[in-house]
Amino acid sequence: MDQSLYTAHLKYLQVETDKLLQQSAFDGLLIGSGSLIRRFMDDNSYPFFANPYFVYWLPFLDQHPDCWLLIRAGEKPRLYFPMPDDFWHKTAQLPDQWWTEGLEIVPVKGRRELPEGELAVIAPELPEGECSGWSLNPESVVLALHQLRSVKTDWESECLRQANYLAVQGHIEAAAAFSQGCSEYEIHQRYLSAIAHNESQMPYSNIVGLNEHGAILHYQFQERCAPDQHRSLLVDAGAVWQGYAADITRTQAQPGTLFAQLVEQLDAAQQACVAQVRDGADFVALHEQMHLSLAGILRDAGIVRNSPDSQIELGITQAFYPHGLGHLLGIQVHDVGAWQHDSRQTRPPAEHPYLRFAGTLKQGMVVTIEPGLYFIESLLRPLRDQPQADINWALVEQLSPFGGIRIEDNIRVTSDGCENYTRDGFARIANI
Ligand code: GLY
Ligand code: MN
Ligand code: MN
Repeated sequence: MDQSLYTAHLKYLQVETDKLLQQSAFDGLLIGSGSLIRRFMDDNSYPFFANPYFVYWLPFLDQHPDCWLLIRAGEKPRLYFPMPDDFWHKTAQLPDQWWTEGLEIVPVKGRRELPEGELAVIAPELPEGECSGWSLNPESVVLALHQLRSVKTDWESECLRQANYLAVQGHIEAAAAFSQGCSEYEIHQRYLSAIAHNESQMPYSNIVGLNEHGAILHYQFQERCAPDQHRSLLVDAGAVWQGYAADITRTQAQPGTLFAQLVEQLDAAQQACVAQVRDGADFVALHEQMHLSLAGILRDAGIVRNSPDSQIELGITQAFYPHGLGHLLGIQVHDVGAWQHDSRQTRPPAEHPYLRFAGTLKQGMVVTIEPGLYFIESLLRPLRDQPQADINWALVEQLSPFGGIRIEDNIRVTSDGCENYTRDGFARIANI
């Protein structure tokens, strides 16, 4: 790990936070790592996921509830680190690793003395002993932090790159398990073992769909029994590296089938789209271009006979590809800085309601590019009664048992184009 990248990241955050505070009514930020949340009527807790704003500063403490970080202009960030006597759990040692150099660390045993002052508290809730000057998640500060987080530092870029390099190892293992006739459950377990993650470390629940299950966009189960035939496999699964997520999808098909040809064609269209990713590119235009490419694929395969333009006009591509082209990626899989988190961002156009990012790409942003092609009966049904939709329904019936296709890579916008962390990750392994 290049330690200087993190050191520069921390410095950058301090400078940017100082600027943000100067423009606000606050003299500091108080960021909580979050707390364990008990299940209803139970003494067990849900798995812990640290507050992403805390991870932004201290990615090395993403398994540490009840920490507080105070950031004030001209001072070293101060970490309040809980050190309870607890014989039920393994308790954390006071951090003394290289990354603590830029911090002041206050061990907390028993009652915590948090500072007074006009503080913007960025946390799920206010800490005990709340002071009158504290304000929980003030909108202007939160929105400014979203903006900051939407453009990644070199440290963050390295974390996302490494998360990708790790996740591709899981995808390679999953493809091998598919060719060996494994069940969804076995494929899932082999994925986890290949990247040495347990389930609660994953950035989102693995999607592992054999055959028809590939058409369920967020398929949430894993069948324990292998099906009679392994026609296709869709795996949407990531990994985490120092708190940053990979979000990768690959689709496998039995060679020699029409479905395998469709996988190849969508893969080529996805790469052509990635080649358009650059500073200043309009994400909505890329999404619309992908609809046109998909219309071409559907026509060439004989699935739809309408021209590409009329397929789009009739909503045909929308039925085969109902989700957006991609989203911002970072500590959160659907990262902040896009419209759903920030009312100042461009709304998705009405005709693409599921497009999670509808703005202009900027150098340093990291996005997914994830087109799909699915056979989803509930979306195709209305087209059956649409006289202008010239669809080869016999071919649709033939392809539906294969489920669907999604190809998803993670891309950083650079000064002169982009870097594809995911394909680079596959290429590294192929070259070993
Ligand atoms: N894995 C969720 C998504 O691709 O957005
Ligand atoms: Mn995904
Ligand atoms: Mn995604």
